[in-house]
Amino acid sequence: MENFTKRTVTATFDRTSHEATFNKNSECVKASLRRTRTIEKIQTSKLGTPSSLALDQLTPIRKSPRKSKTAQVKIRKAVPADKAPILEISKNLWSGHDYLPLVWDDWLADTDNRLIVATVNGKTLGVAHAILQTPDVAWLEGVRVHEQYRGHGIAGKLNKALVEWARKRHARVARLCTGSSNQASRKHLERIHFPVLQTFQRLDSTRGLRAKPAGVNATRRSSKSLWNWLRTRSEFAENRAMYSDGWTWHPLTPQAFKKNVAQGRVLVASKNRQPSACCILLDEDEVITAGFVAGEPRDVGKLIRMLRYQIRRKGRETLRVLLPLKSPMIQALKHSGFEKTAKIIVYEKFLG
Ligand SMILES: CC(C)(COP(=O)(O)OP(=O)(O)OC[C@H]1O[C@@H](n2cnc3c(N)ncnc32)[C@H](O)[C@@H]1OP(=O)(O)O)[C@@H](O)C(=O)NCCC(=O)NCCS
Repeated sequence: MENFTKRTVTATFDRTSHEATFNKNSECVKASLRRTRTIEKIQTSKLGTPSSLALDQLTPIRKSPRKSKTAQVKIRKAVPADKAPILEISKNLWSGHDYLPLVWDDWLADTDNRLIVATVNGKTLGVAHAILQTPDVAWLEGVRVHEQYRGHGIAGKLNKALVEWARKRHARVARLCTGSSNQASRKHLERIHFPVLQTFQRLDSTRGLRAKPAGVNATRRSSKSLWNWLRTRSEFAENRAMYSDGWTWHPLTPQAFKKNVAQGRVLVASKNRQPSACCILLDEDEVITAGFVAGEPRDVGKLIRMLRYQIRRKGRETLRVLLPLKSPMIQALKHSGFEKTAKIIVYEKFLG
């Protein structure tokens, strides 16, 4: 029997959890979180005492200046019994605001993805997850290693196993992201030679606007001409043909674009009946996120004013924009009152 109690809540997600997770760690929250209609919030305070990790082959990093090279780390598919030890690891992260408890059941139940754990002598002390975003692109996430057993390359082993899984499924690349302030994560990725694809600046503003700007609309019509305009923009290349929902970077394919258009998530500014700026949005958890922006700065300015108008009209707390680190729009947004709140690094490995 599980040694914790669960309380079912029907909110989408606790925003402060998102914030805390992202600010302290800046890892991407899984898109499946959004698919979750009912979220089970774990009452971590009721978790039982941690089970003893008597790992005779893996010396805890805290107790030994030298890292053990004889660790018999095994990687296997996660099973329901891994939930308790993984939640135990998770509850110590980011002041108990890790998102992993919220997605664990979905991840375990989803047969299209891969949820794996690392064990030593049968004890579960690490976890990681992967999905195929498209047949070509795998997204890796949710890597966690027990606090006392870090620095032994366990995250590297988990990563390798997910990369192998993606390769077997004929994915061409594996991607993931981490916050620039997460030194351990960055070191681990450097150590396993996972190359950086692009760094993104996150900017937030809470300032709304009363007046609705003219010439900006959410398009729901055929997106072909807009797509042709967009894919030739320099911003498309700088975004590495990806858009973000704030937590995950998704491949920006014609299909994904069409879907976003159909969902009313694409905002377009026009001049002489031609698109002059465009952004892809997510409106969720009190935050409107522009996870892809293209166009001349003046026209993008119009989009931003429309978004400011929307946060006021819809009563959202924050307007968030994610831009490639070298985007000239960062300065423009700073001048108009946005604050830089995080840098997120997206990595990509070719799978050959
Ligand atoms: C990031 C994490 C998964 C790495 O796991 P791991 O198995 O310890 O990875 P590695 O063994 O490759 O060690 C990574 C490096 O980080 C170092 N490290 C550990 N804690 C650190 C810290 N707080 N600050 C800086 N470096 C740290 C390790 O010493 C090691 O460096 P080295 O290669 O020079 O020896 C693990 O630290 C963890 O679970 N962190 C909390 C969850 C998290 O941040 N997940 C990633 C979200 S993107």
